This record gives sequence, C-alpha cells and structure tokens, in this order.
Amino acid sequence: MRKSVRIRECWKESLKIRMISAKSLFTLCAVVSVTLLIPDYALHAYQAPAKPDTEAKPVPEAHSSPAANLAAVAKPNYDPPPNLARTDLPAWPYPKGVHIEATPDDGKLYRIPGSSKTFTDTQINRLASSPDWFPDSHPTPPAPVITGKEGAYRACGECHLMNGAGKPDTARLQGLPVTYFLQQLEDMKNDKRHASVVRASITSMIPIAKSIDAADAKLAAEYFHSLPPFKSVRVVETDTVPVTHPGPHSVQLVERGATEPIGTRIIEIPEDAERTLLRDPSSGFIAYVPLGSIKRGEALARIGADKTGAGKTGAGKTIACTTCHGPNLKGMGDQFPGLAGASPTVAARQLYDFKSGTRDGKNAAAMKSVVATLTDQDIVDVAAYLASLQP
Ligand code: HEC
Ligand code: HEC
Repeated sequence: MRKSVRIRECWKESLKIRMISAKSLFTLCAVVSVTLLIPDYALHAYQAPAKPDTEAKPVPEAHSSPAANLAAVAKPNYDPPPNLARTDLPAWPYPKGVHIEATPDDGKLYRIPGSSKTFTDTQINRLASSPDWFPDSHPTPPAPVITGKEGAYRACGECHLMNGAGKPDTARLQGLPVTYFLQQLEDMKNDKRHASVVRASITSMIPIAKSIDAADAKLAAEYFHSLPPFKSVRVVETDTVPVTHPGPHSVQLVERGATEPIGTRIIEIPEDAERTLLRDPSSGFIAYVPLGSIKRGEALARIGADKTGAGKTGAGKTIACTTCHGPNLKGMGDQFPGLAGASPTVAARQLYDFKSGTRDGKNAAAMKSVVATLTDQDIVDVAAYLASLQP
C-alpha cells in the first residue's frame, strides 16, 4: 500500500471509531504524522519491533504539521553533513529496505536447514536480542553480541549475524583487528564516519556506536576477531541480472522472470531470501558482477594499474591495495582490515564514502588518496575482484 494512502486511512479509521474525541483523534493522527519523519533507515537493517495497533504506522513522506517539525529538530540526525551529502552516486552500494507491517505473532516456530533450533517471529524480529541458529559453530558470544542491551542498543548478531558474516547492507566483522574495530566505533561516535547519501544503513549503526560502553565494545571486538572469516559471497560474472527490488531488512528481492543489463553495477542478492530474512548466518549471497571485471580489478588491486592494463607499478592509476592490506588482501597489522572474500556492495560503499569524505575517521587519510582517481567502473572492478578471493 502506498504510504500516503496510509495516513489518509488513519484519519478514516479514526473517524470510524465514534467514541474517539476530536482531541484524541488529533493526537493519534499527529503521532502518525510524526512518524512520517522516522527515516527509512530505522526500518532497514531489522524489522521494527511489534507495536500495538493503536500506534502510528511509519509513513516516510514529508509532512508539515508543527508537531512533526518539532520532532524533526529533536531527533538525532546520523546522515552525512549536508555539505558532503551526495545525490549523484550510483544507488546499488546503498541497499534500501521496505517496512512490512508487523502482524501479531501467531506463535509459529521457524526452522532452517541444519539447525535443531526453533524461533518465533518475536524472537527473530522483535527483540533486541539475536537468534542463534548454530550455537555450536562459534565460541560463546558475549552479551552485547547476542542480547544487546534493552533500551540502549540491539545485539550485534542481529545485523552482522551471529557468525559475523554480515550482509550487503551491514558489514562482515569476522577476524577484524580489535584496534581497527574499536577505532571504527570511535569514529562513528565522534561523527567522523557517515555514508555519502542520506538514509543509508549506517544510520542504524551510529547510535549503537554512541551508546555502547568501552567494556562491551571490547567484548564484541574480541568475539568477532576470534571468528575466522569465510566466504559467504559467490561471485558470478554476467552481462544480465535479475531485476531486484528492496525487501525487508534491506534484502534485495528478485522479480521473478525479469532481467536487465548489469551495466556498471554489482547486484548482490541472497542465495535464499527466506533464510536470510530469518537471519540464518549459514545462507550466503550471490554477487553478479560485469564480464571482465574480476581481471581488471586484479590489476588495480595488485599493481595499482589503470584499466588499460599498462602494468605500471608504483606510478599507476592508484596505489596497489596489497601495499597496505597485505599480499593476499587478508589484512595486515592492527589498522588494515582484510578485504578478501567480503561483500562487494559493502566494499564499494566504503570506497565511495572515503572518496566523498564522509568516512573520515582517524585512519581514513590513507584511503582517500587511494580512491581519489578511481572511477565508477574501477570501483566495480576492484570490489568484484576482492569479493572473488578466498578470505
Ligand atoms: C541495526 C543493525 C546493526 C546492528 C544491531 C549492529 N550493527 Fe554494526 N553496522 C551496521 C551497519 C549498517 C554497518 C555498515 C556501515 C557502512 O556501510 O559503512 C555496520 C558497521 C559496523 C562496524 C564497522 C565494520 C568495518 O569493517 O568497518 C563495526 C565495527 C560494527 N558495525 C560493530 C557493531 C557492534 C559491536 C554491534 C553490537 C553492539 C553492532 N555493530 C550492531 C549495522 C548494525
Ligand atoms: C596506504 C595504505 C592503503 C592502501 C594502499 C589501500 N588501503 Fe584500504 N585501507 C587503509 C586503511 C588504513 C583503512 C582503514 C581506514 C579507517 O580506519 O577508516 C582501509 C580501509 C579500506 C576499506 C574499508 C574496509 C572495511 O572493513 O570497512 C576498503 C574497502 C579498502 N580499504 C579498500 C582498498 C582498496 C580497494 C585498495 C586498493 C585500490 C586499498 N584499500 C588500498 C589503507 C590502505
């Protein structure tokens, strides 16, 4: 249903309830109006907790009631600084989601292949905590990773998955150096790390970085560091891709039977959307990348060469990624994260964010000079190559 229709329906529904006084009718619909300003990102990475039916339904279009405007001023804004926000970037590195109305939990128990666990919709989608489908496949997770902190922040496992594999709209956390990990939280906390576009998924991460305390952050960092990265993205070169549209949890869903040219894009979809929506960490993604991109990306990553493959070393188009991220691109030391086998959507998003200056943390300077000369095609190519590697 179109969201603008919903607000009209609210008025209609309210009018139907005869008992309602003019004043409470105003209040109810003002609440709906205020939620016009709840940005989409609040609904991206996880399904919103179930709300009583009387509560407002989010409707993202602009609205001009004074109450709504007040709420807009009061609400913390995790979008990029206006002078750096971009509207000219390709959309694919910034996956969008849709909000599905929460229906009452009917108690149905969900299962996934290979796990003996069962969880209800409430346990999967409506609590701060994260379902742990395969508790034997990883060390005991510390509280911030599995339960989060009620009223403060949601469990890391919910968006990054319990095994840290991450999703195209979030990030893989497996094996990240503890120092790097904590620095990213610090950068977000200090408003030094944003996306390049408004309403991007990171706007649901920044408040977490701002509310987690140092001890919990360290526990989470050590847990994810202890998990060996594995490949959860299957890279496929192609010139034609399925047509996709945003689904819940910012998962991109396939429109059955419809295809289109890939162009200069990467299209990343779940291997099994149903399992991904149940937060199954063992179900990965397919990344469709343009024909020839992996080979071109290899030249960029290994010798910093330009697309003509001139093979220049050092003085090429950019600095070889291997210089800092290690000979196998599996990371190096405390500051250089591993890049091999990670989501190309996430990697490309970071490259754009370094380039537009919205990812501007303590150690971002090194990356800014690397990305300065990269074109849209270079970013597709190098992201495709990195994703194709074994972590
Ligand atoms: C609501 C979803 C959500 C939850 C819950 C969440 N994250 Fe994130 N996190 C994200 C998103 C989205 C990004 C990616 C930001 C980007 O693209 O730049 C991210 C990125 C990160 C990064 C940066 C990774 C990198 O490679 O630079 C770290 C570190 C991180 N999260 C830690 C945590 C920790 C610790 C918790 C739990 C306390 C947590 N996250 C919970 C959504 C979430
Ligand atoms: C001069 C050293 C250097 C070189 C060369 C370099 N990087 Fe980086 N890279 C870094 C540092 C440092 C960071 C962490 C930045 C931060 O903490 O904000 C980083 C971070 C990244 C990230 C973000 C990872 C994440 O988990 O969020 C990506 C993606 C990346 N680099 C890709 C590349 C690519 C692709 C190349 C080659 C074209 C490259 N880098 C070359 C130093 C370098």
